[in-house]
Amino acid sequence: MTQKARLYSGMQPSADSLQIGNYIGALLQWRDMQDTYDAFFSVVDLHALTQPNDPAELREKTRRTAAQYIAAGIEPSRSTLYVQSHVRAHAELAWILSTITGFGEAGRMTQFKDKSQRYGADATSVGLFTYPVLMAADILLYQTHVVPVGDDQKQHVELTRDLAERFNARYGETFRVPEPVIQAETARIYDLQNPSAKMSKSAESHAGVLWLLDDVDVTAKKIMRAVTDNDGVVAYDREGKPGVSNLLTIYAALTGRQIPSIEDEYAGRGYGDFKKGLRDVVVAEFEPVRARALELLDDPAELDRVLAVNAEKAAAVADETLSTVYDRVGLLRRA
Ligand code: TYM
Repeated sequence: MTQKARLYSGMQPSADSLQIGNYIGALLQWRDMQDTYDAFFSVVDLHALTQPNDPAELREKTRRTAAQYIAAGIEPSRSTLYVQSHVRAHAELAWILSTITGFGEAGRMTQFKDKSQRYGADATSVGLFTYPVLMAADILLYQTHVVPVGDDQKQHVELTRDLAERFNARYGETFRVPEPVIQAETARIYDLQNPSAKMSKSAESHAGVLWLLDDVDVTAKKIMRAVTDNDGVVAYDREGKPGVSNLLTIYAALTGRQIPSIEDEYAGRGYGDFKKGLRDVVVAEFEPVRARALELLDDPAELDRVLAVNAEKAAAVADETLSTVYDRVGLLRRA
């Protein structure tokens, strides 16, 4: 039997619900890839600490994120679905990797630059600065072949590759150098009210964010109010018609249809009809996921049990890599 290649990915528990960009840009790919890969999916709660959090809410968001993975089709009996902080090796490897990361190198990460600008110097923590190093630790601990992500994470995966190569060159072959997997068509879903900005869990206004766990009527209203343009033609043109193009991308991703066939269907019918069509598609997709997630959240003890079993599986893999790393860098092992 040939061994399956390893896949690693994760999401921050930074909101009560995932948004449709997480769903289309990441979860749908994860679901499809879990058959062919030995997949590890984490809820990266240590990363979420880089934003202000209420402790009880963070715990709840962590469970909610895990429940949405499962509801969207990640099977915790096949894929290793766990919570990052349950596996201590992540924080430990992040420290070691931080010692081979350049200050300037970390400072060039665009997400850090954006977020630190938004928060201001005083509210920007060292943790936010080293965030991508912890992400590299996540990926490298599992000897990962592929990392499916949306395109905002590409630079972080590039850094991960650089750190793996640097460590291997300095201390001997230790880490597999991972490849990002980015689905070009769906790598970036935009905010429905501001189609030049990426849809984000941490957006200031939620008017243009479609949440997986929102009430159906709220989701429907947001779609009907999505920003479009004045020419009334359902056609894909990312530059000239960013709002309509984003809606077409969502429509195509959820139905598996090609964009030209959707354009044909709505030719001469205007935006109202098109939005109603999209509304039906999104609601039909979200409803079962939402229902299943809420059902799972009704039994937190069972969810916690599943996460604990999987954390043990993850730790077994991660500890082996960490142990090699400790030896390679020359840490004296406890007798
Ligand atoms: P996070 O939690 O911001 O996002 C989770 C995943 O969703 C994708 N995504 C999008 N895709 C398309 N359009 C959008 N509008 C959109 N918004 C988010 C993200 O690209 C991501 O794939 N740093 C990571 C979490 C992380 C991680 C890891 C990922 C930590 N360690 C190791 C992979 C491997 C993050 O903040 O993702």
